[in-house]
Amino acid sequence: MGDRPKRALITGGNGNLGRLVADRLLNQGQHVIKFDVPGTEPELLQANEAVLGGDIRETDMLKNVLAEHQPDTIYHLASLLSGSSEENLQATWDINASASFGLLNLARETGVGTFFFASTVATYGVVDTNPMPEDFPQWPENLYGATKVAVERMGAYFRQKHGMDFRCLRLPLVVSPFAPEGAVSAFPSHAFKAASRGESFRFPVSEATGMSTLFLDDAIDAIVAFCAADRASLSRPAYNLHGYYLSAGMVAAAARQRFSGFDCSFEPIDAVEHLIASWPDRIEDQAARQDWGWRPTFDFERSADHICALLRASSDGEG
Ligand SMILES: NC(=O)c1ccc[n+]([C@@H]2O[C@H](COP(=O)([O-])OP(=O)(O)OC[C@H]3O[C@@H](n4cnc5c(N)ncnc54)[C@H](O)[C@@H]3O)[C@@H](O)[C@H]2O)c1
Repeated sequence: MGDRPKRALITGGNGNLGRLVADRLLNQGQHVIKFDVPGTEPELLQANEAVLGGDIRETDMLKNVLAEHQPDTIYHLASLLSGSSEENLQATWDINASASFGLLNLARETGVGTFFFASTVATYGVVDTNPMPEDFPQWPENLYGATKVAVERMGAYFRQKHGMDFRCLRLPLVVSPFAPEGAVSAFPSHAFKAASRGESFRFPVSEATGMSTLFLDDAIDAIVAFCAADRASLSRPAYNLHGYYLSAGMVAAAARQRFSGFDCSFEPIDAVEHLIASWPDRIEDQAARQDWGWRPTFDFERSADHICALLRASSDGEG
């Protein structure tokens, strides 16, 4: 290998989190290969960056990608999200579970160094303790969560039986100006976006409903720092993260403070209300803090300031 720059393969590399993980790794001097469905690629490519169009269900294609690019680390972020998962059960299983198994197995066969998997708080079902303890049982209530638990277990198997360096973070709701449409939990991001455009917004949950949250920058920092951590310091394959508690009412008030005249209503959709209300408000994340130094840097107010500044800047750019 000599002194060649480290190579990272990011599945879902053109998505909300994937693009920013890529930027961070490129800034560190790494070589990044983004793999995502055709039509999602950015207009401009940076030096040391390659974008490959394809579907992670195509195992033969992935085999060629691994053989050609020989990544040191795979960041496996490609996924159907919580909302879109319930609309196509077979595709959800095929993409989120079967294709993830295929990729894990290829990574094992080709000796990829580290395999990172983005899991979710949706792997938990109804959580009735606050804060949720570190090892709370994972009995998800939707297929999205079930596929993520399945991959966590597959990864733990590959780690235990085959010595693979499998690492997984369970992300709570991530507040982002780039939040995808397909996530049930994206409503805080969409509310801020509507406020920045002078549009009204209907929250799909009641005012008091909320859950554990992380700001985008902290999520990206966590993924990159976690994958760079010394393997010997990691006592478990999967870690929980928590930033702060956020409710729909808090988002409405923060958006109104920053964009005067923001008009919104709370019109709960049963399934969304149930899901968000069932997820934990606060999560114990001591293991991540102890093992690899996890510390969130954004509280709710700082997140709101930051996301609104980004949205203002992007709407100025559009105008
Ligand atoms: N954003 C959050 O709040 C959040 C919370 C918990 C977990 N996660 C997880 O983090 C990861 C990234 O989420 P995100 O917010 O960036 O979502 P995103 O939808 O923006 O990114 C997912 C990417 O996967 C790609 N993809 C989907 N199907 C594919 C296929 N068959 N082949 C190749 N690529 C495919 C999509 O095109 C997309 O670019 C996901 O695994 C998600 O489950 C996100």
